[in-house]
Amino acid sequence: MRMYDVILKKRSGGELSREEIRFFVEGYTRGEIPDYQASAFLMAVFFQKMTRRETYELTMAMAQSGEQLDLSGIRGVKVDKHSTGGVGDKTSLALIPMAASCGIPVAKMSGRGLGHTGGTIDKLESFPGFHTSLTRQQFLDQVNRIGVALMGQTADLAPADKKLYALRDVTATVDNLSLIASSIMSKKLAAGADAIVLDVKTGSGAFMKRQEDAEALAREMVQIGTGAGKKTVAVISDMDQPLGYAVGNALEVKEAIDTLQGKGPEDLKELCFTLGSQMLLLGGRAQSKEQARELLKQSIRDGSALKKLAQFVEAQGGDPRAVYDVSLLPKASLTVPVTAERSGYVSHIACDEVGICSLLLGGGRETKESRVDLSVGLVLCKKVGDFVEAGEPLAILHANDGQKAAQAKERFLSACTLSQDAPEKQPFIKGIV
Ligand code: URA
Repeated sequence: MRMYDVILKKRSGGELSREEIRFFVEGYTRGEIPDYQASAFLMAVFFQKMTRRETYELTMAMAQSGEQLDLSGIRGVKVDKHSTGGVGDKTSLALIPMAASCGIPVAKMSGRGLGHTGGTIDKLESFPGFHTSLTRQQFLDQVNRIGVALMGQTADLAPADKKLYALRDVTATVDNLSLIASSIMSKKLAAGADAIVLDVKTGSGAFMKRQEDAEALAREMVQIGTGAGKKTVAVISDMDQPLGYAVGNALEVKEAIDTLQGKGPEDLKELCFTLGSQMLLLGGRAQSKEQARELLKQSIRDGSALKKLAQFVEAQGGDPRAVYDVSLLPKASLTVPVTAERSGYVSHIACDEVGICSLLLGGGRETKESRVDLSVGLVLCKKVGDFVEAGEPLAILHANDGQKAAQAKERFLSACTLSQDAPEKQPFIKGIV
């Protein structure tokens, strides 16, 4: 077989066989197929698309391109949760301890920030000392001991995705349904959970801007998971504005702690209860959505979820005192209000632009090597539908550099649209597949 012929077949709109897809994935992972041929292949997929069968085969080949974790040493039904990526998305920080304290063993593989979106590992590193460098055995033992452990994606797990993701990032081939579905599901399948709950985002801060594309992505991923023998559910949620109010690593940790103390923002609580209910149902810890919600709410009321977060942070080297005293989290030296230039209703917030504001302040990576400033970011004062008076703050920037703050301020102002009429209220949870 020649890679040239595989590219040509896809470029001409043909349907690739299992063998052709495996030839590409295995050859590329081993370094035998060069980046320029892989790039041409990705672009051909981008324009010609893949059938559902091809996407499934691509996912399985990527999942099997390296090590596959065996979680059978962990007692109970292991349920994984994954988001397609968003701005201010601190859901895992609140949901992991909630689900774990309701008896769901959480053996989670998370990532770092990517582009304008944040990552759970960066956020958790706001707890001084927190690390994710656990051996396989430590990882499994910790889940059995306290019900939760978190690792980063290692080089051995779905290495085909690791290489392909980096290549897609620089060849304008990220936002393709088959490529996103195979990237996410290959990692989830290799990570070995029994059931998977997906949070598929849609809107200006998501990779899938249009709801119909997010629905198609959700259906595709659920079919792949089910086809691979895993119970899989996808929730489609709004990412047309940041989730909650805080954007930036330590600021988001603080908001997740507020949520575990029963003081969280409505949208974040709703998302945690919706995703968490699915986790409890799949994990056999509840018989109905209503019962699952009640158990999750109880874990907040009785303080067990907050306690679980402290236990989890401590088990991975972090300072658990910061869970109860957020002044121990990294704190920026400047707070700069961004005030409205005129009065009106906030009718739109360009969510990806808000993510970029946090990046500009130093909260994300410009290059793979950049160091993230965990203390910076912003806290919204108004969300879509709120009325703002001229001169009132729309957001507070948390910065360590006045020049960067000035740049982020400009960018934030142009990301917000004000109108004289109140915008129509949009549902936050857009569907469950
Ligand atoms: N997250 C991933 O892991 N892969 C994608 O392609 C998009 C989001």
